[in-house]
Amino acid sequence: MSASRGKFNSRIGFILAAAGSAVGLGNIWGFPTQAAGNGGAAFVLMYLILAFCLAYPAFMAELIIGRHGQSNAVESLRKISTSKSQKHFAFIVGFGGIVCAALIMSFYAIVAGWMLAFTAEPITTAIGATQTSLWLTEQSLSRNLIFTSIFTILTIFIISRGVENGIEKWSKRLMPALVAILVSLTIYVLTLDGAVDGLKAYLIPDFSLLFKPSLVVSALGQAFFSLSLGTSVIIIYGSYVSKNENLVTLGVSVTLIDVFIAFLAGLLIVPAMYVAAAKGVQIFDANGALISGDTLVFTVLPALFDGMGSVGIFVSLSFFSLMSIASLTSSISMLEAPVSYTVERFNISRNKATLIIGLIIFTVSSIIIFNFSALFGFVIALTTQYGQPIIGMFCCIFVGWIWHRSSLLEELKSGNDNIENQLFWKIWPWYTKLVCPLAIGLVFIHSVAS
Ligand code: ALA
Repeated sequence: MSASRGKFNSRIGFILAAAGSAVGLGNIWGFPTQAAGNGGAAFVLMYLILAFCLAYPAFMAELIIGRHGQSNAVESLRKISTSKSQKHFAFIVGFGGIVCAALIMSFYAIVAGWMLAFTAEPITTAIGATQTSLWLTEQSLSRNLIFTSIFTILTIFIISRGVENGIEKWSKRLMPALVAILVSLTIYVLTLDGAVDGLKAYLIPDFSLLFKPSLVVSALGQAFFSLSLGTSVIIIYGSYVSKNENLVTLGVSVTLIDVFIAFLAGLLIVPAMYVAAAKGVQIFDANGALISGDTLVFTVLPALFDGMGSVGIFVSLSFFSLMSIASLTSSISMLEAPVSYTVERFNISRNKATLIIGLIIFTVSSIIIFNFSALFGFVIALTTQYGQPIIGMFCCIFVGWIWHRSSLLEELKSGNDNIENQLFWKIWPWYTKLVCPLAIGLVFIHSVAS
């Protein structure tokens, strides 16, 4: 393993890159609609509890494994294993996470391609290219293949430039742009008729639903997906963090940003749906539930933008740019996981590895596109319902049961001398050892059983 490794140059560089990985379609699309359909603020509250009590400790486990290993996910997990069987297990978990990341990227690139197409549509509409606008907004093999490939090329471009010049530089550019667009759109939408009803639906809790199993399962799945757990992404990002950094506060910062952006997105999306309703757009399905899924993003919201006249063109352009940026900052982390492994395992150049892995992922995306009804939902379920919780749970088991406590403490002390006297060290080790695997396992079994 002689390839030289990248490194984040600054604390803010890591925070924005990891927050970029975390903040994606899951936050801006998934979180608000799940919240609105699951008891409003009751879901938000359960999400906050689970994000900090289960996802954050699991996030820390992956981050610390990576920083200690200073290598890709497989090697980092092997480094804390002692016996031969533990090293085999390390390979299965590390490689499983890498495959999970690559598969997530394969469906993510398709959805992100739709976002890019919808970003172009207001422009073609403004210049009167009606046929092109129709092509951009209707499902077709040609549109899906072209825009998935454009998105994959963008991701390949950033990852091929490495950690400092690719991931860090672009996260520093894209994340502020994302926040600026999100805040501006939210402020604008909140001034429109109907927005207050949306705020009520989003913020007024129905506490009777707080412990409903389906709400708990959705909130945990959302927290895991959002923090990119169980994909080896956090392990690899952790491996690029300097030994002088305090990991505990880095992890808290990323979790807080992730939760804050998801919450903010709820303040945009749910009121926007009620604004659309005030303009006569259908926002409830046949069962009386709020429309979510692709109908929300590609039918309900565009209908709202259409009804806004010329200002709608700018709102639509901003909204789909926001979705495209959020997709890109997440997909770069999904591509980095397999690329870093390939570079270090086979000792080949980053450019070559990025191209090979990018092509493999694009091939998988194309297979999904050609067999959409059979594969799209299947790959999403396989990765997010099965892969992420299982691998995230195994990472907790590595930290809690396999890694020697003294070595773990030494790693945490790096950048935080006083850790032994802090609350984190008093709670987190046993919490990660017992509570996290058990709770994740229970929620997982429930989700599979139902
Ligand atoms: N963490 C990314 C998201 O929330 C994958 O979309």
